[in-house]
Amino acid sequence: MSVLICPVCGEMLENTGKSYICQKRHSFDIARSGYVNLLLSKHMGKAVHGDNKLMVQARREFLDKGYYSPLSEAVCEEALKYAKNGSVVLDAGCGEGYYTFNIRASFDRSDIAAKMYGVDISKVAVEYAAKRDKSVRFAAASVFHLPVASGSCDVLVTMFAPYCGEEYSRVLKNNGVMIMAIPSENHLWELKKAIYDNPYRNEVKPYELEGFEHISARRVSFTMEFRDSTDIRSLFSMTPYYYKTGRTEQERLEVLAELTAQADFEVLTYRKK
Ligand SMILES: C[S@@+](CC[C@H](N)C(=O)[O-])C[C@H]1O[C@@H](n2cnc3c(N)ncnc32)[C@H](O)[C@@H]1O
Ligand SMILES: [Zn+2]
Repeated sequence: MSVLICPVCGEMLENTGKSYICQKRHSFDIARSGYVNLLLSKHMGKAVHGDNKLMVQARREFLDKGYYSPLSEAVCEEALKYAKNGSVVLDAGCGEGYYTFNIRASFDRSDIAAKMYGVDISKVAVEYAAKRDKSVRFAAASVFHLPVASGSCDVLVTMFAPYCGEEYSRVLKNNGVMIMAIPSENHLWELKKAIYDNPYRNEVKPYELEGFEHISARRVSFTMEFRDSTDIRSLFSMTPYYYKTGRTEQERLEVLAELTAQADFEVLTYRKK
């Protein structure tokens, strides 16, 4: 039985192979790539469609080159501490499935038979994700209206996606664990210095989150060597600065061909209270 629920009536969804169907006969087709669209137009909100194709491709290309692999390894190690045989693990805002896939593969290597789910509001992103990993169930949906049964998840991973504490807490089992990553103080400092006149370091906010007990923080810092301007631009387009950048900064970015930059993250783990 899947932990997915009908976005219309909230009943459990059953996978018939070609579609997911609830007891009230609401039915949702499974796309050829393998994901199911559980996004109701009223739940789309301001994000509308989430990341578009160009953003998804840029992120995939960048991540697949392994620039963030130390972060991925740290998140996998953290997930491995809490997942066991039969655990349900959800990647909320999974994008094109880079971390979802790596976490699932790390479970396989450790002989942990967990059930993985990935949800993202971007249909393009979940389509890519579904093609990447056939053993994960991917759904297009909003993290603000997760089509996931209450108290059904052992571990929830959320990487750089919008945060919805109420929903994350609702879908987790009692004592379930939430793992996320945040940029730390020096993240991409050299990139910011190369582009901005007055760069500033990231402000790290207090760890406390309502409804959760903070259980660990692990700093993951490493150096990235860029010898390809496309990768630098892909990285920049993945950051929130991208949307706040003027013409002068764009021009500096265009001519930036090589760069050594720090990646600086914190992997934070919480337990549902
Ligand atoms: C910065 S990307 C991170 C993707 C992935 N977790 C990763 O780290 O590679 C943010 C993701 O959040 C998704 N997103 C934005 N708003 C969303 C929402 N309301 N519900 C679900 N996903 C959302 C976007 O489509 C995008 O894939
Ligand atoms: Zn229904």
